[in-house]
Amino acid sequence: MDVQRLKESFARVAMHGDAVPLFFYSDLFLRHPETRDLFPVSMAAQRDRLVHALARIVADVDNLDDLAVYLKGLGRDHRKFGTVAEHYPAVGTSLLATLAHFNGPDWTPELAADWKAAYGLVAQVMIAAADEDAGTRPSFWDATVLAHELRRFDIATFRLATTEPLAYLPGQSVSVESPERPRIWRFYSMANAPRDDLTMDFHVRMIDGGALSMVLTRGLAAGARLRVGPPVGALTYAPGSPRDVLLIAGSTGLAPLKAIVEQISGLAAPRQVHLFFGARTADGLYDLADLEKMADGYPWLTVVPAVSDDPGFRGERGQLPEVVARHGSWRQHDAYVAGPTPMVEATVAQLTALGVPPSQIHTEDFGWSEP
Ligand SMILES: Cc1cc2nc3c(=O)[nH]c(=O)nc-3n(C[C@H](O)[C@H](O)[C@H](O)COP(=O)(O)OP(=O)(O)OC[C@H]3O[C@@H](n4cnc5c(N)ncnc54)[C@H](O)[C@@H]3O)c2cc1C
Ligand code: HEM
Repeated sequence: MDVQRLKESFARVAMHGDAVPLFFYSDLFLRHPETRDLFPVSMAAQRDRLVHALARIVADVDNLDDLAVYLKGLGRDHRKFGTVAEHYPAVGTSLLATLAHFNGPDWTPELAADWKAAYGLVAQVMIAAADEDAGTRPSFWDATVLAHELRRFDIATFRLATTEPLAYLPGQSVSVESPERPRIWRFYSMANAPRDDLTMDFHVRMIDGGALSMVLTRGLAAGARLRVGPPVGALTYAPGSPRDVLLIAGSTGLAPLKAIVEQISGLAAPRQVHLFFGARTADGLYDLADLEKMADGYPWLTVVPAVSDDPGFRGERGQLPEVVARHGSWRQHDAYVAGPTPMVEATVAQLTALGVPPSQIHTEDFGWSEP
């Protein structure tokens, strides 16, 4: 397989932007109408995900170890969509038709053979991981909402219970689907360490016009049914680490970091933990009362609330990265950062500038920005 040739041909295709997924999905749904029912009614959000996923695969095609981890996760995760092995050749045919179309005269028999081989390999890894998973876990978990609380008009916390046990690590996330928005799955981080009673807590911020966050914040009540996918994510704390811990949460980015605080509270010898919790205005610090209670109970925990756009706020003021930098150099800490994209990016840049080694910085980027 000529890796360079694959990359160049993909770059030629990606140049065409939204036309690429439009061509691909229309080709797939015309040739295989039965696959349409697997996808949401509106395809808008899925469009750029496909091109992103392909870009990620092509970029990593010469880094097979990382690529295999990603593809196995993706294959396992596709079980909840109802994807089965028989669907893969259909997707492969439409993908090749799309690549051929946008490569135009550059589409040679050699290039076609390389793409066919590459797709075959990707599909094989995804299918094998899904098959292995099918022997051990359900493709999704049914869950019931036990309690729901609107903390601000656009921020809610809720607790659900799954009907079957779901093993996960503190800091991980699951995808969630509501019958109000069939086939729309979005990721949310558990805000607690695993419990024996099968309950899990979530913190959700409403995104303007967002398909699912709107339902989970303003359209949910006790008794509502949800579906939950398998746990994902590597924002996890290794209890054996000799370093103290720095946690930096923007808005509902608090959820996975609160789970890590709970995990540390269960250890025999907890390290010192600094938790920075930032929002634009004081009412965005929706869980501060609970965090302060935790800090009162745990001598190893320091909570620093920070607000950027509220001159009347009596605590730390400024953007989270600046506030964090004012409190130390953090070079000897394990850092965990979660929340909106601009906040995560700016915080990582700040920590790197302070000299924190990249291997000590762990992130979960929620993919949205503050309105
Ligand atoms: C691993 C992971 C864990 C996550 N955990 C959490 C969590 O615990 N809590 C939480 O609240 N969220 C979390 N998210 C984000 C969540 O998955 C959804 O992306 C979010 O809730 C929006 O989904 P939606 O269906 O409402 O919006 P969609 O219908 O998917 O629309 C979102 C679209 O709006 C765009 N957009 C971004 N910012 C704005 C904005 N300010 N105004 C308008 N549009 C915007 C985005 O680019 C995107 O295209 C997590 C994301 C990931 C990847
Ligand atoms: C090389 C093979 C494939 C790749 C790289 C791929 C990639 C992806 C990615 C990255 C997502 C978004 C995941 C998320 O955010 O949760 C996704 C979603 C999805 N995929 Fe695939 N996929 C592949 C094959 C298939 C096949 C064979 C099917 C079955 C027809 C399929 C059906 C779906 C569905 C239904 C969704 C959800 C759509 C949505 O949420 O809007 N995929 N895929």
